[in-house]
Amino acid sequence: DATTLAGRSRALIRDVPDYPRAGVTFKDITPLLADGPAFSAVVTELAERTRALGGVDLVAGMEARGFILGAPVAAALGVGFVPVRKAGKLPGPTLAAAFRLEYGDATIEVRPDTIPDGARVLVLDDVLATGGTAAATADLVERAGGVVAGLAFLLELTFLAGRDRLAGRHLDVLLTEA
Ligand code: PRP
Repeated sequence: DATTLAGRSRALIRDVPDYPRAGVTFKDITPLLADGPAFSAVVTELAERTRALGGVDLVAGMEARGFILGAPVAAALGVGFVPVRKAGKLPGPTLAAAFRLEYGDATIEVRPDTIPDGARVLVLDDVLATGGTAAATADLVERAGGVVAGLAFLLELTFLAGRDRLAGRHLDVLLTEA
């Protein structure tokens, strides 16, 4: 039951005030990850929603927490996983995108040769905050020749309006926080 899953998941995400910067409330998903049934249910639900989307050829997840959720979703779907990494972690050739984060600036990179032309890609991360990371990832997938079939998140912080930076794209969100 999705309502129960949402309720249980929400209770397992810990708010950490003023982390990593004053004024920012960090969403700590480690209690959820440490709960086997809840973690498994979240992965299953994300995979189900992706099947409902018509399936994908690849899942792209953003370092670091997008790896933790994205890789098991890809495996559940029987498709490949593409790591979208912070700058300087992937051997080339890479494509890079720079963007502004809620707390600081960032550059992320992907290996375009891991995304075949026309591949349908699900972009998956734990939290949609300002949308900078997700918009940059969608941009990288498209520059690499892929098609963004949709984006999926465990939690959307609606007050940061990240969704506005993803206008016209399909979004799946398990939990929202206003
Ligand atoms: C967090 C989160 C998303 C991103 C969302 O990652 O996991 O990737 O921020 O923020 P945005 O919508 O404002 O771009 P973080 O940069 O903290 O990296 P981590 O997963 O390595 O902790």
